[in-house]
Amino acid sequence: MSLGLQGRVALVTGAASGIGRATARLAAREGCRVALLDISAGPLAEVARELGSEHRAFPGDLADTAAVEQAVAEVIRWAGRLDILINAGAVLRRQTLSDVRPLDFDTQVSVNMRGPFFLARAAAAHMQRLGWGRIVLLASHGAFTGGYVSSSVYSMTKAAVVTLAKSMARELAAAGVTVNAVAPGPVDTPMLHNDVSDEALKAFATLVPMGRFAAPEEIARGCLFLASDWAGYITGHCLDINGGMLMR
Ligand SMILES: NC(=O)c1ccc[n+]([C@@H]2O[C@H](COP(=O)([O-])OP(=O)(O)OC[C@H]3O[C@@H](n4cnc5c(N)ncnc54)[C@H](O)[C@@H]3O)[C@@H](O)[C@H]2O)c1
Repeated sequence: MSLGLQGRVALVTGAASGIGRATARLAAREGCRVALLDISAGPLAEVARELGSEHRAFPGDLADTAAVEQAVAEVIRWAGRLDILINAGAVLRRQTLSDVRPLDFDTQVSVNMRGPFFLARAAAAHMQRLGWGRIVLLASHGAFTGGYVSSSVYSMTKAAVVTLAKSMARELAAAGVTVNAVAPGPVDTPMLHNDVSDEALKAFATLVPMGRFAAPEEIARGCLFLASDWAGYITGHCLDINGGMLMR
């Protein structure tokens, strides 16, 4: 039995960089038609060009609820359907508690929490009508550890994502729509490197039993497994992919 992704229509957010980009590439390689969403329009267009003309970029801001709902409608108009949603777009501000300003708080909550809620809700409404759907929301090990490097607000939003996956999973199970979260440990992407010295990163890597950070492709594989036929009876789950850093 193959993963069964051939011919599926997948919307991947955060697709201009890191895990989202790796997931979009892998989804295309597995035979999906991929809609790519990101706020970073230039790099997003490059990824879409690289994937080829049957895939399409939909630039958009996860924090903008109307834009997010419109993007889902546009993807469905473009491809005729939407089978898979993988939400990887997010922002991380590394700040000590005393440095967090209300605007930093609101930005991370809007992108990381409100974004996935309204995006997944819009996708789910369509998937319920199809009677089949897969939603995968990127959380983080920070949801369970509180985060290692001054990331209280970010970690809080990621804990909310894990809970959202469970609530949605329960509500949508009977309609054939599964909803799961993926919680990576440190992954070698721009988000990991932002504002962190090489020395600090080296020390951070020693906390991982495997002794290295994940490659974005290693997270993409977990996401696509959850989006596949192989994971048809898995819902409300949070898949840890962290090289053994957190065993819970
Ligand atoms: N890299 C890690 O160590 C790590 C660890 C745990 C979880 N994660 C999670 O994995 C996901 C992907 O992270 P990454 O490491 O690939 O980061 P990244 O910074 O490489 O990519 C994130 C992407 O999200 C996009 N984005 C940011 N704000 C947006 C908005 N308002 N609307 C639309 N797109 C927006 C960015 O433009 C970027 O392309 C995130 O949800 C992140 O929280 C990452």
